[in-house]
Amino acid sequence: MSEKNKKENKDDLMEKIVSLCKRRGFVFQGSEIYGGLAGTWDWGHFGVALENNIKQNWWKKFVDGRRDMYGVDAAILMRQEAWQASGHVEGFHDPLVECKKCHHRFRADQTEGKCPDCGGDFGEVQQFNMMFKTHIGATEDGSSVSYLRPETAQGMFVNFKNTVDAFHPKLPFGMAQIGKAFRNEIAPRDFIFRVREFEQMEIEYFVRSEDWEKYFEYWKGEMLDWMEEIGIDMNKVHEIEVGDGDRAHYSKRTVDFEFNFPFGQKELFGLAYRTDFDLKNHKLDYIDEEKGEKIVPHVVEPTFGVGRAILAVLLSAYHEDEKGGEVRSYLKLKPNIAPVICAVSPLLKNKPELVEYANAKVYAPLKAEFGRVAWDDNGNIGKRYRRQDEIGTPFCIVVDFDTLKDDMVTVRDRDTGEQDRIKVADLKKYIKEKI
Ligand code: GAP
Repeated sequence: MSEKNKKENKDDLMEKIVSLCKRRGFVFQGSEIYGGLAGTWDWGHFGVALENNIKQNWWKKFVDGRRDMYGVDAAILMRQEAWQASGHVEGFHDPLVECKKCHHRFRADQTEGKCPDCGGDFGEVQQFNMMFKTHIGATEDGSSVSYLRPETAQGMFVNFKNTVDAFHPKLPFGMAQIGKAFRNEIAPRDFIFRVREFEQMEIEYFVRSEDWEKYFEYWKGEMLDWMEEIGIDMNKVHEIEVGDGDRAHYSKRTVDFEFNFPFGQKELFGLAYRTDFDLKNHKLDYIDEEKGEKIVPHVVEPTFGVGRAILAVLLSAYHEDEKGGEVRSYLKLKPNIAPVICAVSPLLKNKPELVEYANAKVYAPLKAEFGRVAWDDNGNIGKRYRRQDEIGTPFCIVVDFDTLKDDMVTVRDRDTGEQDRIKVADLKKYIKEKI
């Protein structure tokens, strides 16, 4: 395939994903009816479901599934002193250039030579702080300045003492948080990949200084395991050692997990050794009872963007094949992640006996058990299958006239299209075994 065709194919894949996400109610452009707000996206019903499943899976593995992890849900707004101490006021910058002619602004590391919009010359590179600044209360002076947090991490560091005092954890232990972060990106782009408002899932793992390398390797393995668990195509994941000049101001070692997105190999998640940088700057310490001394623990930080996790999962799950002479697109999502586990349909929606049976004996009990169950009686069965395939629903259950006689339903598998006849009484068990 020529380079041009390869590029077109890749652009095509992103277009297909963006269009599927809108058509099927996963993701919409933020403020769309007012022309859109760059770098913001809104999640629709199935997007929220996918997002919740991914977050719940993460929490289950990294918090509920462990004995050494403490959850936090800190306020997004914090006192400006926290961001001064963390180094973000001083150092959370991206390089910016402005075109002298049209005054459009770009990230200096993403443009070369002339302005791509008008061909004009660029001025000097300036440092642009990416935090959204605001004022707390009615007074707009220096003392009321605050910022929307650019990482959830600081919400954990500022609660380090509270957590230690409340739970008396022994080292090593971790704090975990899922929440919104905001960055005034100069060039938001690539759908939900680089946005201005997003969610992070972060862990601050506190260790003795001499142990950091051991736990860095350990967390690398845990991160890779989780990526596989949610269905990210591991052949497209690369571990990249981030060089000296490219690491964040707090990090002494960073490994980025990059993914082959259609628009290039880019950062998916990151793992950083933050040393004692944050705790020291917040003037926090810890009494190590084992050693009988006051120490400042060191931090290994696995960090995950929710939106990027979703994009990698969608790109890994998107498939096309041919069914009945037509191209069908489907999301091969793992059942534990899929927004809908199964869809229930009466074969014909104008036959009350089928609708009644499907509703009372199949849909209602499955809905009560799994929640993520859809009722779908729109269009013919072929259309319903196509729709559920695009949502990534692993099983479609159809109630037909035979069901009324033998209490068995057809269960169709999303990936193979194969159909099984299953007893209605066995449906819960059948589905539980698959998720
Ligand atoms: N606490 C460390 C930290 O924030 P980061 O590498 O700047 O590190 C962590 O961000 C993760 O957040 C990234 O690996 C990525 O998944 C996600 N992320 C960062 N900036 C983002 C943006 N503008 N849009 C979407 N996700 C982003």
